[in-house]
Amino acid sequence: MIKLGVNIDHVATLRQARRQGIPDIVQAARAVSAGGADIITVHLRRDRRHIQDSDLYLLKKNSPLPLNMEMAADRDITGIALDVRPASVCLVPENRMELTTEGGLNVKESASALEETLPVLKKAGIEVSFFIDPLKEQVRASYEAGADAVELHTGSYADSGPETLEAELNRLREAAALAVELGLKLNAGHGLDYSNLIPVRDIPGISELNIGYSIVCRAIFTGLEAAVREMKELIL
Ligand code: PXP
Repeated sequence: MIKLGVNIDHVATLRQARRQGIPDIVQAARAVSAGGADIITVHLRRDRRHIQDSDLYLLKKNSPLPLNMEMAADRDITGIALDVRPASVCLVPENRMELTTEGGLNVKESASALEETLPVLKKAGIEVSFFIDPLKEQVRASYEAGADAVELHTGSYADSGPETLEAELNRLREAAALAVELGLKLNAGHGLDYSNLIPVRDIPGISELNIGYSIVCRAIFTGLEAAVREMKELIL
């Protein structure tokens, strides 16, 4: 069964617009759980534009679901991860001005930061995945670096028009097949929504899908629990 991780960063984006404590992040996690999700995902960015350090501690203590923390391979943030001890960490690239995580990690180019971060997280019993573009060389480099899992970046697929859709799906399928062959846990996410999910769900070997923006947007009209349930039903 494929697990659904719901990224609730944008609940915190809304809260940060007024900094008045609502919407409450733990209430959001409870609604996500009631809707049938399996994992709560949050990204603690260096710029703290949405999720704050205190959110992680609150979620770790009160979330009914395991916590997946997205983060850059950064010494300070790693210290927080070691203190909070989420069930899993997804290492992502981070650029200061980006609207959202733009591309996957270049595993070879980031080798020194990854080599510093990966072993300490793993030693603390945290499952570590690398967020990578769906390229075989990135899958292989993740395996060689010692990642437990890869999360394939589905953003290019999600943004593609009819002419490039099949090619993007094939890139995902080929990268996924190599990850499975190498024994890596296989996750995927970014830009997935209610209309583009199915072909990604059907890629053999997918363990987890992490979805945020489309669910939080739908939640404005339906409520978070219903928006999550609708997504979960598509995944089953
Ligand atoms: N996976 C990773 C690694 C991400 O960085 C994000 C965005 O924070 C997501 C999944 C979810 O993407 P979206 O919000 O577009 O569904």
